[in-house]
Amino acid sequence: MKAISIHQFGELDELVYGDQPKPQLNTGDVLIRTTAAGVNPIDWKTCSGGGASGFINEMPFIPGWEFSGVIEDAGDTQLSTGKPVFGMIRFPQPAGCYAEYIAAPADQIALLPDAIDLEIAGGLPTASLTAWQALFDKADLQSGQQVLVLGAAGGVGHLAVQIAKWAGAHVSGTASRRNHEFLAELGCDHIYDYHSENVTDYVSNVDVVIDCIGGETGIEALSCLKPDGVLVTLPSVTKEQVIHAGEAQRRRVEPILCVSSAEQLSKIAELVADDKLRLHMTETFPIARAAEALEQSRSGHVCGKLVLTFDH
Ligand SMILES: NC(=O)c1ccc[n+]([C@@H]2O[C@H](COP(=O)([O-])OP(=O)(O)OC[C@H]3O[C@@H](n4cnc5c(N)ncnc54)[C@H](OP(=O)(O)O)[C@@H]3O)[C@@H](O)[C@H]2O)c1
Repeated sequence: MKAISIHQFGELDELVYGDQPKPQLNTGDVLIRTTAAGVNPIDWKTCSGGGASGFINEMPFIPGWEFSGVIEDAGDTQLSTGKPVFGMIRFPQPAGCYAEYIAAPADQIALLPDAIDLEIAGGLPTASLTAWQALFDKADLQSGQQVLVLGAAGGVGHLAVQIAKWAGAHVSGTASRRNHEFLAELGCDHIYDYHSENVTDYVSNVDVVIDCIGGETGIEALSCLKPDGVLVTLPSVTKEQVIHAGEAQRRRVEPILCVSSAEQLSKIAELVADDKLRLHMTETFPIARAAEALEQSRSGHVCGKLVLTFDH
């Protein structure tokens, strides 16, 4: 099968498009014929020797943790061949989603309603699960609460805005000016341009901050919280820094590590099928051009998601 792989961590031009053996199924796995694989910052971070690279013990490494596709072989599971599915699998262990075929644990994937486009579904799992788990599992978001999303136009941010609105929250977000109309269309109530406005001058007493940026940006936003509010910080490289600042200011900070959940993915799929949540797919790349997509992700200014596509 064709896949993207690297033989050593380093520059993104180490990524090779070529032949790799089809994955073998273990107990509980299904074989997926991949339609699309979403691009996440963890992909380029890992290829560059950061991110989840500490969990990768064998080369070549095939990047990617999320996909959509069709079940080609249901193995020893109760699932059926031919069904469209999507999922985030095995994270942070290697999952090999930048490939034409993927061996996926059946309990980490969800069936896809017919109404959802398979390419769109390829970009959904990680960002939507992270947004869902940050808002509900970490922050216990309730209807009527105030939410601030730092980095609201990105993969996680634009879904967090919509999920928080669906849950009945009042939502503020930060983004570059060019993305304000996009965020307003998604229902974001107040939008601040982080280049020219300091969100801490405008937003206070919020119940929940979803911090997709981390570092000093996350630390400054602690002052936007009400005393019993919570800031969920996503980037793992700066989480200790933000946690320490939270302790010093007696503000609650929660780090997060997104986990697979077939159950949550099914709820997310229902929201998408009912037009209550939409993934903004900003650009698709054929899998052979994955390096370009990862470079674009590394720029830090993707609006919504980038998705890799497969032509079987
Ligand atoms: N812990 C976990 O389980 C977990 C899970 C998923 C993601 N993450 C991490 O969370 C972070 C966000 O992920 P993502 O997929 O949403 O990233 P992303 O899609 O690459 O985010 C890009 C967005 O960030 C915005 N941005 C950049 N600097 C900003 C700033 N200073 N203030 C406000 N917005 C800014 C950009 O908006 P403009 O173009 O408008 O500037 C762009 O839309 C990444 O570090 C990722 O690795 C962690």
